[in-house]
Amino acid sequence: MSIGFQNKYNKIINNKEYMKCVEDVFYSDAVKKMDEYIQHGSTTTLEHCINVSYHSYKLAKLLHLDCKSAARAGLLHDLFLYDWHLLPKGDPLFQKHGFTHPQKALENANKYFSLNDMEKDIIEKHMWPLTLRKFPKYKESFLISFVDKYTSTSETVVPVAKRAANYAMLFVMMFASIFH
Ligand SMILES: [Fe+2]
Ligand SMILES: [Fe+2]
Repeated sequence: MSIGFQNKYNKIINNKEYMKCVEDVFYSDAVKKMDEYIQHGSTTTLEHCINVSYHSYKLAKLLHLDCKSAARAGLLHDLFLYDWHLLPKGDPLFQKHGFTHPQKALENANKYFSLNDMEKDIIEKHMWPLTLRKFPKYKESFLISFVDKYTSTSETVVPVAKRAANYAMLFVMMFASIFH
């Protein structure tokens, strides 16, 4: 991982308790590969998964839930390992990425790592309630599903809001320079 990446996630990487939970996963080749794909905006799938993993870990700890499973499954929940932007647009609704990628992520996670039942459930059900019939079995599965939606929204909205603020500032400066 690059120096820029290490700097960006310095706080997380230096949290020894968190890193102990994900030590077999965090620096693996399969997880690192997620940095090759954009999830939303300019956020890579790896960055998104680290955000979901760390926030889920913190919340699970606060709520006295299984924070290790939350951290590990959070990091693996989008391990589908392809660029979803390049998928054919005409697929039937239930074959679209939003519905199918949890299963693909679970297949990959099972292939590379040893998972407990809760971690499998978290990964498989993280798109609930979109995947209506895949009802979460554990409180931790609900938690990651919520954190994933919150994180995805902030990763998508914040860069757009920042860009809009920059354009507004540019407009104000241009306006001010005309009447200066
Ligand atoms: Fe996902
Ligand atoms: Fe996600």
